[in-house]
Amino acid sequence: MQGVFRPSQLRKTNGIRRRPMHIERLTRSSTARYRDLMLQAHTHESDAFISTHAERVLLPIEWWETRIADTRGSSITFGAFAEDALIGSAGIKFEARERERHKATLFGMYVLPQHRGGGVGRGLVQAVLDCAKEHEHIAVIQLALIEGNLSAQHHYESCGFETYAVEPMALRMETGYRPLIHMWQRLR
Ligand SMILES: CC(C)(COP(=O)(O)OP(=O)(O)OC[C@H]1O[C@@H](n2cnc3c(N)ncnc32)[C@H](O)[C@@H]1OP(=O)(O)O)[C@@H](O)C(=O)NCCC(=O)NCCS
Repeated sequence: MQGVFRPSQLRKTNGIRRRPMHIERLTRSSTARYRDLMLQAHTHESDAFISTHAERVLLPIEWWETRIADTRGSSITFGAFAEDALIGSAGIKFEARERERHKATLFGMYVLPQHRGGGVGRGLVQAVLDCAKEHEHIAVIQLALIEGNLSAQHHYESCGFETYAVEPMALRMETGYRPLIHMWQRLR
């Protein structure tokens, strides 16, 4: 179903032409690479994620396999590749309960720092949105980000998401309580 996305030409950033990249649905054969990428994200940008590196590093490989491609269909993850290297990812999670089946959640949005600013994040969000639209019962896609993550907030706004709620004291971090910003986009 989900095809391979090949932005014909990535934007020029600071005069440097980025290498072509492509986005595809990850399979279980990418589990180790996906785990490495996300553990790197949790190590270097822990302020951007709700889960901590300490929590994630302890999870068994089966958890990561399910995250990538749940056999029951509850989640799908897309990867951005430059050549053969996994440089970013984003996933979509579906709801099981009948009264929530019209909603999906975007999760695990990450692009390696050296590949940012060239459209990789936008391509990943587009892959998630296209996937959601292919599921006719999905009417709404949601996500949550930690308040203060302005680059991610701008990124999501630029991709069509709007804030619908700010949850005070949503997280207790080393530096104190932090709100979560909840965003959504109506698909149909
Ligand atoms: C947020 C993130 C995924 C964006 O990836 P990216 O590949 O740099 O994004 P793109 O190049 O596709 O840019 C998409 C849009 O986001 C905007 N954007 C990206 N980085 C930005 C920044 N630092 N400040 C302001 N806007 C930014 C771009 O300007 C662009 O919008 P525009 O076309 O209207 O100008 C990336 O910065 C990242 O991985 N951050 C760390 C992890 C994170 O915060 N994840 C989100 C958790 S909720």
